[in-house]
Formats: sequence, structure tokens, C-alpha cells
Amino acid sequence: MKYFTDQVRLINGQFDALVVPIFPSDRIEQHSINTRLNETENENLHVDVCKDARQNHHLRLFVNLAVVQRIWHTCHSLEHVLKTSLNLLDEDFLRKSTPGRICHDLNFAVFKGFAERGREGQPKHIVFFEPSEVWGVNSRKVSHQIFFGRKAVSTEHAIANDSMTNQSSHYYESVNRYRNKLPRPIQAQYPFGRAPPELRAAGGI
Ligand SMILES: [Fe+2]
Repeated sequence: MKYFTDQVRLINGQFDALVVPIFPSDRIEQHSINTRLNETENENLHVDVCKDARQNHHLRLFVNLAVVQRIWHTCHSLEHVLKTSLNLLDEDFLRKSTPGRICHDLNFAVFKGFAERGREGQPKHIVFFEPSEVWGVNSRKVSHQIFFGRKAVSTEHAIANDSMTNQSSHYYESVNRYRNKLPRPIQAQYPFGRAPPELRAAGGI
């Protein structure tokens, strides 16, 4: 057991030593490192979501610890989904919900749930990660699916938003950009009853 925990500590230390030189300006506020030793097969496509209020930017690195390839599918970016599929969600929900909740519901609207994994009908890239390969991904903005994998380590470094090189690329900003383009409700567009006569006649205001 001691050998195992020493090895885990060694790997964790290597991640910490890797992140700072690659992303020197990112201010890390918190980090967690997960060791996944269970075999994973045919997950559902999704972007990672956090349903709570605005969160730090998350920097994620992965390493394939297995002696076989780890296989991912990737699909549309969050930007693409927001651009093409926001109309699948209820307008009132879009106006009132946090960006995390919106991403959560978009996952189901576009990529379906776990029960329909592999049958959601979306185009996919296939990526083969070699044993020991290390990769990074903004998993809140690139949809992904573990198709097959054995052992892996993943990190989640919470980066202070004000230290991001491009703060407008935070997923929160992306969601807000697109939902702010929604047509405003008639009442908001025409306050004080000054709607065009045809709308007033139709009972629109
Ligand atoms: Fe994920």
C-alpha cells in the first residue's frame, strides 16, 4: 500500500511541476487530482458542467496510465452548440438560469443522456491517446466522450478568472454572449404599450 501511495504522490507532484511552467501567468487557487483505475466504456457525449454560480476557469490535464490506448470522441464546441441549438431550450429558462444550468440542459437537448450514448446522432472525431501520453482540454467548452479507457489521471486546476489570458473565453461569457442575442420579450421591446398596431390588435401587448 505504501508503494502505491508513494507512486500516486509522485505522479501528482509531476502534474504540479508541469502546470506552472506551461501556464506561468495563470494563478492557481485550488487543484484536485483524480486517479481513475476503473475501466470506462462508451460514456455519453457532454461538455463538463457546473450548475452553480460563476466558477473559476478550470485547467484540465490528463495522462494515460494504461498500457493500451485511451480512446475519446470529441464533437461540437460549446460555441457551436450555443450558436445552433440554444433555440431547443425554453426562452424563459434561458433568461433566468445560470450559464452552468444552461450548459447542463443543452447537453441533454443536443447530446442526449447516458441511456442514448452512441446513438445521439452527432458527428465525432476519434482521438487515440498513447500509453503515458499527456493532454489538456477545456472540457467545459469541447464536448467529449470517453469511448474506452483503463487507467488515467486527471487534474482540475481552478484558475482565478482575472488571471486568464483571455477572460472572454470563459464558458460563462460564451453563454451570456449568445443568450443576450435572444429576441427580447414583446413587453420589454415596447414598454408603455407602444407596440405597432398589428401587434396590439393581435393581443401581443
Ligand atoms: Fe467530461
